[in-house]
Amino acid sequence: MTRQTATTGLYLKRVSVASMAHTDSQCPYLRSDGINRIRSFEIAEGRAQLLRMTKMHPALIRAQAFCERFGLSLPILLAPMAGASPPSLSIAVAKAGGLGACGALLMQPKAILNWAEQVRADSGGAFQLNLWAPDPPPARDREHEEEIRTFLAQWGPEALIDAGDATPPDFNAQCEALLNAAPPIVSSVMGLYPPEFVSRLKARNIAWFANISTVAEARAAETAGADVIVAQGMEAGGHRGCFEAARAEREMVGLFALLPAVVDAVAIPVVATGGIADGRGVAAALLLGASAAQIGTGFLRCPEAKTHPAWAEALAVTPPEGTIVSRVFSGRAGRSIATDYVRAATARGAPAPAPYPVQRGLTSALRENGGKTGDIHRMQVWAGQSAAMARADPADEVVRRVWQDAKALMA
Ligand SMILES: Cc1cc2nc3c(=O)[nH]c(=O)nc-3n(C[C@H](O)[C@H](O)[C@H](O)COP(=O)(O)O)c2cc1C
Repeated sequence: MTRQTATTGLYLKRVSVASMAHTDSQCPYLRSDGINRIRSFEIAEGRAQLLRMTKMHPALIRAQAFCERFGLSLPILLAPMAGASPPSLSIAVAKAGGLGACGALLMQPKAILNWAEQVRADSGGAFQLNLWAPDPPPARDREHEEEIRTFLAQWGPEALIDAGDATPPDFNAQCEALLNAAPPIVSSVMGLYPPEFVSRLKARNIAWFANISTVAEARAAETAGADVIVAQGMEAGGHRGCFEAARAEREMVGLFALLPAVVDAVAIPVVATGGIADGRGVAAALLLGASAAQIGTGFLRCPEAKTHPAWAEALAVTPPEGTIVSRVFSGRAGRSIATDYVRAATARGAPAPAPYPVQRGLTSALRENGGKTGDIHRMQVWAGQSAAMARADPADEVVRRVWQDAKALMA
């Protein structure tokens, strides 16, 4: 019954508080023979351990409970990142004791199953699969889309006439793939899963982590049956996970305000994400009530992330104010480096972006060409406000260092 937990670094013996009430003065007969002497010793040792445990910061005890529930050895989660979730990154994070993740938004069912199979085989299976809840079909305005195409032509190859028609993979088929892949955790963003799908997750013992970015969304997710809330501060890189696209740029809540408010509003564990990229951020998140921290941009410079070199280099020199939230890549609000294209497309006089996913289709030629030429000003370079804290080190080193540093701050 004795084992070391990576979360605490302590050897814990499971001695119940009830059994510890039987101290030698209350139960003197415990000392009457050899067996009872051993029992008495165990109880004394257990009491010492409990004392040491109670000296442990409550935030660490909370994190430990989360890790035990989800089979992790430390409370660091890789963020699901559509288009930036290669199996190699999840394998490295999971092998270091954290949780891997796949942003499956753009993946066909077969690719989702292959990803899960590979990560499970190489990492022991600690990972989450993530999907976006789909928006209603976008309203189309061909005249406006023409204006956007003309604007985009100044920045890259002309967008094809039907570029805005691009349709994402079928959501229902992706949901079936999630169930067939049978991960320990499935997560949602941009809304909630339909009740029927939630029931099927629960029947298979798959936990549901719901991304939210306001207190109201957190409450709605808990009511809908989420097992864990992932609270995304507006510092986060990539798309904002707001349920309603139209509110994403208005309701910009920072993690320092969002996290304690969400922790107070719900009874289920809360994971913090957005702008966390080192031990200080993780410690702060746990002290504000989180059970674990989820990191996205902070892993993008790791070799296992296979990030485009121009993007990875740009992250290293991007200060918090060098990022910006806009809809200019996909039509949904997301935080990226404030490149020349982003500045121009958000300047007065530029055409407003088309809704998601029309804008994503319209900008695909620009983004692809930017990637080919390595020009970050024409690439989609998502970045959280702590981009410059990302280190170009192996992901397992990043995981361990971040957690060691966080623990040291809470000792
Ligand atoms: C490149 C990139 C892609 C992302 N794609 C998704 C996604 O598909 N689903 C999702 O829930 N969140 C997505 N996010 C948001 C992350 O899950 C997370 O909230 C964010 O990375 C946290 O902020 P940080 O980047 O400052 O660590 C993405 C973020 C990045 C940087």
